[in-house]
Amino acid sequence: MSPDRLQVKELAAPLRIYQFSDTHLQAHSASDPLIPESWKTSPKPVLPCSNEELVDQHLERAAEGGADLILFVGDLFHFPTPENRNLVLNAVKNCPVPVWTVPGNHDWFYPGQDGWEELREQQLPLLNPVFGESPSYWLREHGGLRILGLDNSTYFLTGEQADFLEQALEDPAPLLLMIHIPISAPGLREATIAKHGNPILMADPEGRERQGIDPEPTRRAMHRLRHASCLRGIVSAHVHLPYSCEVFPGVTQWIAEAGYRGGYRWLECHP
Ligand SMILES: [Fe+2]
Ligand SMILES: [Fe+2]
Repeated sequence: MSPDRLQVKELAAPLRIYQFSDTHLQAHSASDPLIPESWKTSPKPVLPCSNEELVDQHLERAAEGGADLILFVGDLFHFPTPENRNLVLNAVKNCPVPVWTVPGNHDWFYPGQDGWEELREQQLPLLNPVFGESPSYWLREHGGLRILGLDNSTYFLTGEQADFLEQALEDPAPLLLMIHIPISAPGLREATIAKHGNPILMADPEGRERQGIDPEPTRRAMHRLRHASCLRGIVSAHVHLPYSCEVFPGVTQWIAEAGYRGGYRWLECHP
């Protein structure tokens, strides 16, 4: 697959980023009471190889391909078991390239469970420290490019996340946004509905409200992103289809095919 190219004039040297997501790892103990029998008899999605092999294949491809940085864009796991957590911590420890992560919706729920923010609050900590010290939002820098990670795995952002984003966007230094759920855009919206039956996207015209959730911080964040001159691109995931499109003027959003189906993307940032 030919790499995506992004010119970032401020960079001193090229930066090669390996993007993957949605591996939906399924390591678990046979006696785990949180995994329903119905799922065990017919696991979905079906992985093409062992959990370990799947992660190793991606990390090895990234390292062999000369990645400076690996972005693992959520739905690492199909459920938050200790076996899954340990598997990824081990793989990342042995990887020579830094691996940065944001949570996806499947990272914090078991098949059959229902819920949003409360369930995430209860179950995402089971995976510590896979998603770092502050999984809700973080800002880091690599080779002159700032990368801002947000947990948007419930489709909405909190006021605290929007404030953090707003502050980061005041700095003119180039920035790449990393979120699990893509931002809705024409074209992507239709492709997502064709595949999933629903526009499972953030800030989508159909999903801008949910009972008990204040939609204002998400709306404010979208407005700020649209007008931010430092924003150079967005990497996202979740819809399990390879797609790229302009989401704000001059800003491309890149999505890789699901990692368990062999999906990944290379992003080459060059001065
Ligand atoms: Fe997924
Ligand atoms: Fe997802």
